[in-house]
Amino acid sequence: MSDMIPSRRQFLGTTSALAAAAALSSRTYAADSNTIRIGLVGCGGRGSGAIGNALDADPHLQVVAVGDVFEHKVAAAADRFTKMDPKRVDLPLDKRFVGLDAYKNVIDNVDVVLLATPPGFRPLHIEYAVKQGKHVFAEKPVATDPVGVRRVLAACKEAEKKNLTVVSGLCYRYDAGKQDTIKRLHDGAIGDIRVVSSKYWSGTPWFRDAQPGWSGMQKQLNNWYFYVWLCGDQIAEQAVHSIDKCAWLMKDESPERVVASGGRAVRTDEKFAQIWDNMSVTYEYADGRLVHLGCRQWDGNGIYHTVEDRVIGAKGWANAQSHDIYPDGAEKWSWRRDKDDPRARNMYVEEHVQMYKAIRSNTTINNGSYMCNSTLMGIAGRMSAYAGKALKWEDVVNSKHDLTPADMSIDGPGSTMGVPVPGKYDIG
Ligand SMILES: NC(=O)c1ccc[n+]([C@@H]2O[C@H](COP(=O)([O-])OP(=O)(O)OC[C@H]3O[C@@H](n4cnc5c(N)ncnc54)[C@H](O)[C@@H]3O)[C@@H](O)[C@H]2O)c1
Repeated sequence: MSDMIPSRRQFLGTTSALAAAAALSSRTYAADSNTIRIGLVGCGGRGSGAIGNALDADPHLQVVAVGDVFEHKVAAAADRFTKMDPKRVDLPLDKRFVGLDAYKNVIDNVDVVLLATPPGFRPLHIEYAVKQGKHVFAEKPVATDPVGVRRVLAACKEAEKKNLTVVSGLCYRYDAGKQDTIKRLHDGAIGDIRVVSSKYWSGTPWFRDAQPGWSGMQKQLNNWYFYVWLCGDQIAEQAVHSIDKCAWLMKDESPERVVASGGRAVRTDEKFAQIWDNMSVTYEYADGRLVHLGCRQWDGNGIYHTVEDRVIGAKGWANAQSHDIYPDGAEKWSWRRDKDDPRARNMYVEEHVQMYKAIRSNTTINNGSYMCNSTLMGIAGRMSAYAGKALKWEDVVNSKHDLTPADMSIDGPGSTMGVPVPGKYDIG
């Protein structure tokens, strides 16, 4: 494995050493009642959910800044949050920021920033937050190309040095059922894990029409799901949750080779811009282990939707998504919540519980390693499928493939890429 994406143990090993060291960040929160100022970049569905989760997680937070590229999104979010909790939300007009640079103003005003824009912007936003010495909650995925992943990994290493917490929105890692089931599997409940076969079969999450007079860039920011530089395609944006479970089951070791295919079978209208609607990927490990991931977004009468992860071990099998384990020759084990379990019932809240607990106790959480590894696995699957090539992991890790449009101005055309065609799509 390249040291560009170090194993979780390597990366977090240094984190705990640093966590024990004196705090380097400018503010400390030793008392539970000290106010932590939080802000949001990207005032859409998930960002709004994350603000609610944060307020549920810690009674002494204050929401002090919000930003979005569209003014109406900022205004609606500020109203929504104020109604949620008028005492803990303080968003006067001069703390509502609009535009592609809004992230800077939000980050400058807070202790903790929640990053929930389309993932194409995550490297830029994480880099700036860490540079400014702020703690980060970063929604998944954390980039849409290998260049972006490397930027995030470098920023997370910098965060370690600064004793900053970085929590990932790969929320299953904070789910009690997944934690207990995967621990049991790692402890040998079905022997060595050989194969994980995972499906993320869903429908199109949404489609947003453009307003008259908008530039190409504005149209793409509004309807970001269908543009690869912003979204990463379904495999990186949505199925990354499943990839992350597979990677976790494989102890966050990186694969050796990635082989994928896919296309547009149902969502063929040109209004759906660049992304595909199905992919099938195998991640091959050096020791013969295998992850298979199938993802698709098909809508229509009777189309089967499912999210599942079947784990095949040397001595039995499991379904990690439903928390069921079937050891050979022994009784089935199914996870049930213990009534005294201190973990939040909602994994989205638990992410924030752990985050503010770490900040208040002056320790750190740094999810950088696995969030970069799982994001890159999604990107690697997409690159292999689009190009029609088998890719060595090392080549993906070091790839110069960069989807950022040449013109990043709000009045510019955005990305001019067409629908990727295998054999013609250039991954460098
Ligand atoms: N963890 C989960 O289960 C989960 C669930 C849903 C979404 N997400 C992730 O959250 C992120 C946001 O998804 P969403 O569903 O909230 O999308 P959304 O479209 O509802 O919200 C995104 C917001 O970001 C704004 N935006 C776009 N570019 C921006 C920029 N450069 N600066 C500031 N604002 C910008 C948009 O105008 C929009 O309001 C995505 O990365 C997505 O994958 C995670």
